[in-house]
Amino acid sequence: MFNIVHNDETIDCYQLVALYEECGWNTDGFRTIKRTQDAMNRSLGYCVAYAKEDLSLIGFCRLIGDGIYGVQLVDLMVKPAYRKQGVAQQLVKKIISNFSKISKDISIMLVDGPGINSIYKSMGFSMAFRESVHYFETTSMNL
Ligand SMILES: CC(C)(COP(=O)(O)OP(=O)(O)OC[C@H]1O[C@@H](n2cnc3c(N)ncnc32)[C@H](O)[C@@H]1OP(=O)(O)O)[C@@H](O)C(=O)NCCC(=O)NCCS
Repeated sequence: MFNIVHNDETIDCYQLVALYEECGWNTDGFRTIKRTQDAMNRSLGYCVAYAKEDLSLIGFCRLIGDGIYGVQLVDLMVKPAYRKQGVAQQLVKKIISNFSKISKDISIMLVDGPGINSIYKSMGFSMAFRESVHYFETTSMNL
């Protein structure tokens, strides 16, 4: 059992960074406590899931963008031991229902992988683009 809290200002960023690590999203160590706090402050909103038994942080997602034309759901992640219990579904439902007063047009930035499309479809999203999306990075630019 779990609780979902929207924009919880008491969030423990140490636990959040640990969750990024457990989900394989901090292999290069870029997600420090400071950067994570700054990213949260610049987000349009975020939702945190806490386990009822020990109040530990077990899930997270946030919205980024200008809040008008472009809104994206990113960093949706659930601690492995708590998966397949509806945590992600409740996180997404809560963050979108809180934001839908401002905009209903929220797109999802998908990290490709087996089953990822079906996760969002099962949450009620519909696929907007079928072509693959390419990302261009600045790392090779002489800035
Ligand atoms: C993806 C992730 C957030 C799902 O969390 P979860 O709490 O297990 O998801 P839920 O229990 O809320 O399941 C939501 C729906 O997705 C489906 N689903 C969950 N994990 C799935 C998987 N690996 N493959 C296919 N479908 C999956 C569930 O069956 C459910 O559909 P249903 O309601 O029709 O049964 C979790 O596996 C995770 O943190 N993965 C690593 C990070 C990641 O890949 N995030 C997504 C980035 S795009």
